[in-house]
Amino acid sequence: MEPLKKDGMEALYQALLQRAIEAREQAYCPYSGFAVGAALLCADGTVYPGCNIECASLSPGNCAERTALFRAVSDGKREFLAIAVAGGPAGKEPEEYCPPCGVCRQVMREFCGPDFEILLTDGTNQKRYTLAELLPVSFGPEQLDQPKKR
Ligand code: THU
Repeated sequence: MEPLKKDGMEALYQALLQRAIEAREQAYCPYSGFAVGAALLCADGTVYPGCNIECASLSPGNCAERTALFRAVSDGKREFLAIAVAGGPAGKEPEEYCPPCGVCRQVMREFCGPDFEILLTDGTNQKRYTLAELLPVSFGPEQLDQPKKR
């Protein structure tokens, strides 16, 4: 858990967090009332937003992070640098950090390297983690001893 560094990336990270906050506006969350937005930064500079999408039968629902990742992958993107996430009760500004769930961390592990960065905001402050910090000793494509098909 470390604060954003005062380096050249700071403005970019701020912009990415802002995109995540904006993506919350599209959240479809009538069952939990918890709106999450994500903004995924690709290596080519493209940003893919995503929101959580719920379902009356509950289990098919999708998190904001995976919505962003799946949008990008389905668009042919394969190299990712960072994702920003913001979440909290719908209709209000976020007041707590919203760390990615375990399933989303595993999907990040599929497509992102250990230095992939996860940016969080509680609406006032920011925190930054690497994927290796949030998913240590992980299982990934290498364990299956098969080259990634890109
Ligand atoms: N959710 C996300 O979209 N991302 C997270 O990181 C945590 C949880 C969603 C899933 C569900 O629609 C709602 O938040 C409450 O769990």
